[in-house]
Amino acid sequence: MALERTLSIIKPDGVKRNLIGKIFTRFEESGLKVAAVKRVTLTRAQAEGFYAVHRERPFFASLVEYMTSGPVVISVLEGEGAIAKNREIMGATDPKKAAPGTIRALFAESIEANTVHGSDAPETAAFETRYFFNAFELL
Ligand code: CMP
Repeated sequence: MALERTLSIIKPDGVKRNLIGKIFTRFEESGLKVAAVKRVTLTRAQAEGFYAVHRERPFFASLVEYMTSGPVVISVLEGEGAIAKNREIMGATDPKKAAPGTIRALFAESIEANTVHGSDAPETAAFETRYFFNAFELL
């Protein structure tokens, strides 16, 4: 398996409920390394740009509102097969469908406030990582 990097976001509901440590522990105990990290409150333009692929979806406006409602913790996770591994640790988007023991099954409040985001493929991981981190931060 290839060494990969993927983008993770602990969303406003996760940061608000003080879950940063618990979530990072799950990444680390699964063999992923936190290679870069920042805690920020996204602007509307940043959230709209990040989720641009969902612009036409009915939930887009609400998603942008929610993602700008409080601080988020954005990180780059590194490891063997990191993209798929992170998605396995997170569980399905809808917490009702997330496998037991996954972050979303344990912590998500709803399909929108679902505690974490993770890149879904190598192309999105590359785009999303560069969206939030510059080359120096990714060394
Ligand atoms: P995420 O993995 O960050 O990707 C898109 C986000 O849109 C998703 O998690 C949820 O936070 C949010 N969302 C809200 N409603 C839906 C929905 N019906 N289907 C998919 N994503 C949704």
